[in-house]
Amino acid sequence: MANVQIDGVPQEAPPDELLIDLINRTGGSVPHVCYHPQLGPVQTCDTCMVEVNGRLVRACATPITDGMTISTKSAKAEAAQVEAFDRILSNHMLYCTVCDNNNGNCVVHNTTKLLAIEHQRIPFRTKPYEVDNTNPFYRYDPDQCILCGRCVEACQNVEVNETLSINWEDPNPRVLWDGGSTIGESSCVSCGHCVTVCPCNALMEKSMLGHAGFLTSLKKSALSGMIEVVKGVEPETGYGSILQISEAEHAMREHRIRKTKTVCTYCGVGCSFDVWTKDRHILKIAPEHGPANGISTCVKGKFGWGHINSEDRLTTPLIREGDKFRQASWEEAIGLVARRLSEIKAKDGADSLAFISSSKCTNEESYLMQKLARAVIGTNNVDNCSRYCQAPATVGLFRTVGYGGDSGSISDMEKADLVIIVGSNTAESHPVIATRVKSSHKLNGQKLIVSDIRENEMARRADLYLHPKPGTDLIWLSAVSRYLLDKGLAHTKFLDQWVNGLEEYRKSLMPYTLEAAERLTGLPERSIRTVAHMIAEAKATCILWAMGVTQQSQGSDTSTAISNLLLITGNYMRPGTGAYPLRGHNNVQGASDHGSMPNMLTGYQLVDDPEVRQRFETDWKVKLPSTKGLDNHQMVEAIHKGKVKALYVIGEEMSIVDCNANYVEAAFEKLDFFVVQDIFFSHTCQYADVVLPGAPSLEKEGTFTSTERRIQRLYEVLEPLDGCRPDWKIVQDVANQMGAGWHYQRPSEVMDEIASLTPMFAGVNYERLAGYKSLQWPVAADGTDQPLHYTKHFAFPDGKARLFPVSWIGATETPNAEFDLHLNNGRLLEHFHEGNLTYRTEGIQEKTPDVFVEVSPELAEERGIQSGTWVQLISRYGKVRVRALVTDRVHGKELYMPMNSVESPVNRLTSSHTDPVTDTPAYKEASVRMKVLAEVGESPLPRINPRFGHPTPQNGVEVERKWKRADYAPPGNGNGLVQLQTKKRS
Ligand code: SF4
Ligand code: SF4
Ligand code: SF4
Ligand code: FES
Repeated sequence: MANVQIDGVPQEAPPDELLIDLINRTGGSVPHVCYHPQLGPVQTCDTCMVEVNGRLVRACATPITDGMTISTKSAKAEAAQVEAFDRILSNHMLYCTVCDNNNGNCVVHNTTKLLAIEHQRIPFRTKPYEVDNTNPFYRYDPDQCILCGRCVEACQNVEVNETLSINWEDPNPRVLWDGGSTIGESSCVSCGHCVTVCPCNALMEKSMLGHAGFLTSLKKSALSGMIEVVKGVEPETGYGSILQISEAEHAMREHRIRKTKTVCTYCGVGCSFDVWTKDRHILKIAPEHGPANGISTCVKGKFGWGHINSEDRLTTPLIREGDKFRQASWEEAIGLVARRLSEIKAKDGADSLAFISSSKCTNEESYLMQKLARAVIGTNNVDNCSRYCQAPATVGLFRTVGYGGDSGSISDMEKADLVIIVGSNTAESHPVIATRVKSSHKLNGQKLIVSDIRENEMARRADLYLHPKPGTDLIWLSAVSRYLLDKGLAHTKFLDQWVNGLEEYRKSLMPYTLEAAERLTGLPERSIRTVAHMIAEAKATCILWAMGVTQQSQGSDTSTAISNLLLITGNYMRPGTGAYPLRGHNNVQGASDHGSMPNMLTGYQLVDDPEVRQRFETDWKVKLPSTKGLDNHQMVEAIHKGKVKALYVIGEEMSIVDCNANYVEAAFEKLDFFVVQDIFFSHTCQYADVVLPGAPSLEKEGTFTSTERRIQRLYEVLEPLDGCRPDWKIVQDVANQMGAGWHYQRPSEVMDEIASLTPMFAGVNYERLAGYKSLQWPVAADGTDQPLHYTKHFAFPDGKARLFPVSWIGATETPNAEFDLHLNNGRLLEHFHEGNLTYRTEGIQEKTPDVFVEVSPELAEERGIQSGTWVQLISRYGKVRVRALVTDRVHGKELYMPMNSVESPVNRLTSSHTDPVTDTPAYKEASVRMKVLAEVGESPLPRINPRFGHPTPQNGVEVERKWKRADYAPPGNGNGLVQLQTKKRS
């Protein structure tokens, strides 16, 4: 520890802690406008000047060293602070009382108060620029912009979208998008980082404007008049009394603005944030304290909440009458569901019923759904959509290391020397995880390898991009393993101490020579060798993978090959290492963890284990079925065969997100009874007999578990819309109508029951998860969790991992003369899956209005296609009509179609082939032919889509350029100022 003195008081600090952090941590108060702990030193504002050993320094950029004598309040320091802030005020008109940012957290307001500024010495000067309103979600007001550069730092080095810069050399600097475009036509992906960190009202969410303040909804002319009045009295009264009025106005706001913590409803990253609401109006999403995301979000989490107050929300149960639905009371609907489920059970047996839980719902809801299936109906026919994505990754990890979850945390991905991404469009599907990798790659020298058939953003950033033939990842992964073992580059010590099965594994690798790998994958031998050497040289390697691996007919085996490779190179058990299958939905991890699986109860306890069953039977006071039930793929088959007669689905758009959608729809038509619980009348609802209106995540309490096994609480932001009920209550109502006698008053009681029955969650309770606290399972009874798995041993009885031999078989479906094109599919950044939620946000719809098929430039030329040409894609299973988008993101005869369509879903084209181990459909193994239609329309992506922008990468705000301006001198006459520079983020 370093010993220093601050204003005469001795303090201890770890060496290298930033002086500003130490001052803040020990209760001091130095102004700091541009500094934000999650951005690190930006050094643009100069307000944090302090004296260290007699010299002025910026506290935000000065690391602590032993023996420092620091004065924060010397005359020299204070004069410099005031002078610096005066310069800031010349860029910003203080009209706090009528400002939507007057919420107690405005840094400019608070610094004016802290420094007791009464009058400006440098008068405010307007800038010769218009307000930019061209983004649907936020606006930029150059006149209010203090040029602190926080937004630039966030965009360049945290989000790493590299859209923002400041033209420091201009006589009137301002923030620029793509070097001078409008926001609307720039590369801005509307992630909101810049708006979140802006210390004043220069960047603001449009949803705040005219809504947050008591006086801010006034007409512009009246508002301008009031601002003039405020400015008019300032010379006489000074800022002190003006600030008092604005603080009174802020205090009034406290009574009507609610700030409630929630967890994002979209992907599996697990971003958490406060939701600011005024009545049912969502003012803004405020990320800051989330353990996974901090200030980060993507466009969906920050702005994609239009579904909450959408007029399309279901607000009453519906019952089918012939071809139509009629509204019904809850009593009637629940009564009908209970009666029909009971009748079918009585007639055809418990196993003629099946249940599908939602990976959008909470852990507690998933638990109750499987309890309904098992304890009330008596069947293990219960599953969730992890079957469609993550089950193969779970198997790969169960086979090799013993637990089916990510082996570390997102912070480990940041720490790694080398990140390998296989079959994952991380920047679009897990945007906030991508920011961490992009940032480490840009700033910290992390190396990046990407294997994907589509040249996505991460591929373009990679040090090495591999484009293997579709479905051949297992081959090059095994060839890398064999090469490492053959060349003595494997981690022998780790293998000896921690891994079983080396000899058998080594034998299984015999076919995977470099020559064979080149022939089968199309990758040059030298690339495979380079991968091997990069892993061998890296101190810590993480491998991230997603549906490009798992949605193949050998998804489980390829996932296993990934884990095998990590084991032979010793890349487990240490920070910065490990296996990271990226979970798709917000709670797809939790849905499986909490027992919505046909062979497992909570915490992956097997249904055929008598000891496990007995524990649950004792608690639930029922006899439980002991044989594995049907997974959701088998359920569809069983409906076709007449074995499953009734289905109850919560929050899954099965009729179009399941593979071979036509086949699934045909199954639904055969059901005797079909219950769908959702927040909108989804496409799947068309086949239902009863539709029950559930509640979205903002309208309920519970927990979600993210990709890094992180359990987090969500609180009720808004009461359920009139007529809707939280899903846990609906399931309880159905169970009780069938005589279950459940008495859960709140979700915490459900979690207590889960913890009591599940060793993996023994220490989980709502108190330990209060606010932004979280736990990463397994959680011991005393509450100890495991951010990094396997620090002491692997999860097998002998504590050792197991190499699990696998061999490549080949795809179930490859292009041929009739179906000559390979069709890949996946997500888009802006939309979640088919878009049932995200299309309800106007701005998202405006930027990304429709589905398309990506066609390579060479194929487009060959077939006479341009962006906007309508084509028909035809597979063995169905056809869709869609517009083409010509792009070099895809190559040759490989097409890519995103999932964002209910009308033309890609799953009309996919097959029912599956990975035999898990029954996960091989969504990525589709072959089609393409008929070019005569019509040519507009490009399916409008010009305002960020993909058409031109980013301007640079290393942060580049304050050095400001310092070089002829009119810049450090405040305090620059006497002895030390311009320390560091890009280190805390
Ligand atoms: S991408 Fe757009 S919203 Fe995100 S930080 Fe950059 S400018 Fe701001
Ligand atoms: S817009 Fe950017 S530079 Fe301007 S005040 Fe906000 S964060 Fe600072
Ligand atoms: S969608 Fe994913 S990355 Fe985006 S805010 Fe939500 S959890 Fe975060
Ligand atoms: S806080 Fe802005 S320069 Fe230090």
